[in-house]
Amino acid sequence: MSSDEEMVVTPWKVSGKIDYEKLIRQFGTQPLTKEILEKLKKHAGSLHYLIRRGFFFCHRDFDLILNLYEQGKKFVLYTGRGPSGPVHLGHLLPWIFTKYLQDAFDVKLYFQMTDDEKFLLHHDFTVERSVGYTYDNALDVIAIGFEKEKTRIISDIKNIRALYNIAVKVAKHVNFSVVRAVFGFEESTNIGLIFFPAIQAAPCFLESVLTGENVPALIPAAIDQDPYWRVTRDVAPKLGFYKPAQIHSKFLAGLGKGGKMSASQPETCIFTTDSLEAAEKKVFNAFTGGQPTAQEQRRFGGNPEVCTVYQYMLYLFEEDDGKVRELWENCRSGRIICGECKSILAERVKKFLLEHQKRREKAKDVVEEYFLKD
Ligand code: TRP
Repeated sequence: MSSDEEMVVTPWKVSGKIDYEKLIRQFGTQPLTKEILEKLKKHAGSLHYLIRRGFFFCHRDFDLILNLYEQGKKFVLYTGRGPSGPVHLGHLLPWIFTKYLQDAFDVKLYFQMTDDEKFLLHHDFTVERSVGYTYDNALDVIAIGFEKEKTRIISDIKNIRALYNIAVKVAKHVNFSVVRAVFGFEESTNIGLIFFPAIQAAPCFLESVLTGENVPALIPAAIDQDPYWRVTRDVAPKLGFYKPAQIHSKFLAGLGKGGKMSASQPETCIFTTDSLEAAEKKVFNAFTGGQPTAQEQRRFGGNPEVCTVYQYMLYLFEEDDGKVRELWENCRSGRIICGECKSILAERVKKFLLEHQKRREKAKDVVEEYFLKD
């Protein structure tokens, strides 16, 4: 696949060169304005670098959530993961941002594991395999640092009792023709997948149902999940709930050429369970924006814009804006060459993995306590 390939962004496939401005127009989301960022900063105390640097780039009703908060009305956070394999660094970014929101606003989080969706989607999946990944991936979620008292992980398969009474109410308002148009379902699509959007909608309203109050939900998620929210937002008022709000992220590019990342090509992404040696090797094989030789690099400089190493520094491993700028300028001017940059990144990745893996091990003792009790 080349990056010139036509852009495809659906919940099940992301490929080609992604034009985020175009997605805002196509999906009808709103760009994040300066006013919204200022308001977020005022209430959160700080602006997370993932929003400062535009990794989170558009929204729906995020301004409304902030206005309601200003009036003393709290919201709940809702995000999730399709547990189809091990977690890689790209998956962590929305979770890191969600943790910032949870801490800043002191709010509850529902985290949905769509083990049903992944079972229905993949021909070679058993239910046991999907649920196995739910538990495995939950360790990574917990390792991000979400507080136990304020966080509930939901396995669709294990916790269906809590979701089902909401899902049927949603489903009754959604015609087949709508989901066929929104998700591209075909005659041959199994009926589980056709019902599934109602299951992914359910956590939006779970807090309202459990507390008997109308509590708005804010969903931090990658932009590919947008079709689910479009359908859910249409139904929400019919059920007497707030429309769920979203704050959408971009995708972290993989380490391969053209920024491709795919779990089916393990050398293009760093898994949270990779050994430090394996992760280091992936960094050293990463695609950069450098010149073919060190000499040319010193003379002409590199191109951080297309460099996967730079991206990882920008979105994961350098919180200091000044240092990011310096890295950019040093690359452009040829003062730093790719080998040096890769060494810096490799050290940071190894340090992160070492700590994450420790927290992940510890999570095994408490993982059950994080799941929703129904
Ligand atoms: N369908 C999502 C996936 O495959 C998982 C998911 C469920 C999700 N609920 C969510 C992701 C809410 C973001 C926000 O990854």
